[in-house]
Amino acid sequence: MPSRDEILHAAELIRAGRLVAFPTETVYGLGANALDAGAVERIFRAKGRPATSPLIVHVASAAMARQVVRAWPEAADGLAARFWPGPLTLVLPKAPAIPSRVTAGLDTVGVRMPAHPVAQALIEAAGVPVAAPSANRFTQLSPTTAEHVRQGLGAAVDLILDGGPTEVGIESTVLSLAGGTPVLLRPGMIGKPDLEAVIGPIAVAEAAEGAHPSPGMHERHYSPRTPLVVSRKLPVSGNTVYLWHTVELPAKKTVKMPNEANRFAQRLYAVLHELDHEGWDWIVVEPVPDGPEWDGVRDRLRRASAATDGERRRAGDRVI
Ligand code: TXA
Ligand code: MG
Repeated sequence: MPSRDEILHAAELIRAGRLVAFPTETVYGLGANALDAGAVERIFRAKGRPATSPLIVHVASAAMARQVVRAWPEAADGLAARFWPGPLTLVLPKAPAIPSRVTAGLDTVGVRMPAHPVAQALIEAAGVPVAAPSANRFTQLSPTTAEHVRQGLGAAVDLILDGGPTEVGIESTVLSLAGGTPVLLRPGMIGKPDLEAVIGPIAVAEAAEGAHPSPGMHERHYSPRTPLVVSRKLPVSGNTVYLWHTVELPAKKTVKMPNEANRFAQRLYAVLHELDHEGWDWIVVEPVPDGPEWDGVRDRLRRASAATDGERRRAGDRVI
């Protein structure tokens, strides 16, 4: 864990408009002062991220959350009381103090209070809300260790705070409270039933539901470089590694994944980062169960394989 001095130094860098990568309970974030348009611009450049993709603003208190939004509905109160600090991002009407660069020109802003003590200490010491996407280059996997950040972004970051491997392992649940009915924009480890228990029925955005995956740039965001397929069958040719949790198949290499959603999510990106360095032709993943506790994991696997679908079509469907 970083020392108090290191955190104070990181906070000074944030205040000076520089970039600090830091651990959250979900994945590592690439942070900058959310009130400083120039600092936020550096995030987009370091990631190679298109300006059309809005950033999440991280806060250390409910008071700070209210500074970045224009409205704080009752539903936000209930959800924050139940799930903050934690892996839930709320999309709300944006306050004028947040530069439009942060929100990709949208009139709404994603806000989240992370549970990781290093993230909390950093934001508190900086005294400003911290805009932070996942600390990976655009189109690459989110980092769950400081080493992943080093490998992916290296010199583009002014400082990396190392808080060890992250606990949740996939990105936060994103829920919009900006319109009439709440809308789930990105599933995560706080599930739809958990949210509905607090605020009643919520709608699910088509992209979050996965009915008709469109393998665009956004889908690639969650992909390893190695083609990934979700299947109970192995490809007919090529070197394959098989990730299984119930039934093992005779692939060249197999990796036993946890048979429980929280632990599966915690391991997923770490395993994919590692396998991505090993030169496999295919990563095949056993389909995960249908239950709502698996929604976040299923969504990330679907996005990763949607990117592969495009490659498979171009390669003349060499698999399965
Ligand atoms: O767990 C997480 O959320 C991590 C850690 C670092 O907090 N952050 C993260 O950020 O995953 P990023 O930038 O990789 O993903 C942000 C997601 C995107 O799907 C984006 O579209 C959505 O949040 N988002 C942010 N602001 C939004 C807004 N105003 N309206 C709709 N969606 C928004
Ligand atoms: Mg990301």
